[in-house]
Amino acid sequence: MTDRITIRRPDDWHVHLRDGAMLELVAAHTARQFARAIIMPNLTPPVTTADAARAYRDRILTALSANSGPADAGFTPLMTCYLTDQADADAIAAAHAEGVFTACKLYPAHATTNSAHGVTDIFALAPVLERMQAIGMPLLIHGEVTDRDIDIFDREAVFIDRILRRLVSDFPALKIVMEHITTAEAAQYVAEAPANVAATITPQHLLINRNAIFDGGLRPHAYCLPVAKRETHRLAVRQAAVSGSPKFFLGTDSAPHVVEAKESSCGCAGIFNAPFALESYLRVFDEEGALDRFEAFTSENGARFYGLPLNEGTVTLKRTEVRVPDRIGDDALSVVPFHAGETLGWRMVD
Ligand code: NCD
Ligand code: ZN
Repeated sequence: MTDRITIRRPDDWHVHLRDGAMLELVAAHTARQFARAIIMPNLTPPVTTADAARAYRDRILTALSANSGPADAGFTPLMTCYLTDQADADAIAAAHAEGVFTACKLYPAHATTNSAHGVTDIFALAPVLERMQAIGMPLLIHGEVTDRDIDIFDREAVFIDRILRRLVSDFPALKIVMEHITTAEAAQYVAEAPANVAATITPQHLLINRNAIFDGGLRPHAYCLPVAKRETHRLAVRQAAVSGSPKFFLGTDSAPHVVEAKESSCGCAGIFNAPFALESYLRVFDEEGALDRFEAFTSENGARFYGLPLNEGTVTLKRTEVRVPDRIGDDALSVVPFHAGETLGWRMVD
């Protein structure tokens, strides 16, 4: 039995690092495991300009240098532009050329946390999408329709049929990442789509189905968006992740909220999985007998899709029991991590 695995340093292609005190609490967890991360721009207000992205990148690096050890050396935040109805092709292209914006993020208006400024009609942004296509800048999509008359468990599949198919046909060379896929429909669509369409997969959508949200009572820490689906979908997403297809790669969607915001009469969506992200993913690849495909998923497929170099250096995980703490933080600011109170079977050691 393999009891140690060493992989090229991985990247997280979708993470929420937040701002202020929360940023200081969570950033080191991501920087410890990952060399680079695609930083979500859904702050309040959202990151829509190059100046805002530069300032946010500086705050991330400052937060890391303030409270981190040598393991965090070399972490690179890759910034994204939050698309609004006012998005401007020239400004976005200029910021991309300067290396400030790596990608653009599309939140359909009101789809999720801090998406009130999101896009009301993606096809009205054709000039922006055409420019992104021309310069090879990826479009990262929160792929859910927002219509309140569409069942929440169907919103991803309906998005594929109503929006994504047309987007892929109107912009055939645009690099598109369908973020945090949760359904068999998405796994199949992406697997069969052209090479410029890929997907990220979170640990939670590989490990829990929707029963976890209602397990003996309402479980706010199992609630995120897109919401976990039924077991058949989890199994399909798992198969996609371990399939070896270069279209699927790691994106944690780690999305911390303070415990009071989760354990509330209207609890926020988001699962904080950063502290044990690699351990979570590795459990899945181990259970599926796919340890030989782990490194491509964590450390190669995403970089190749983005057209970025593979990282130097390695990380090692060891088969050993590790208990996940009930809380991360202190009385002033406390977040419940994914797997809180559980014992995991792998631990990153260096
Ligand atoms: C994210 C958040 O809290 O910012 N929440 C989540 O459930 N994933 C937003 C998002 O990515 O949808
Ligand atoms: Zn997210």
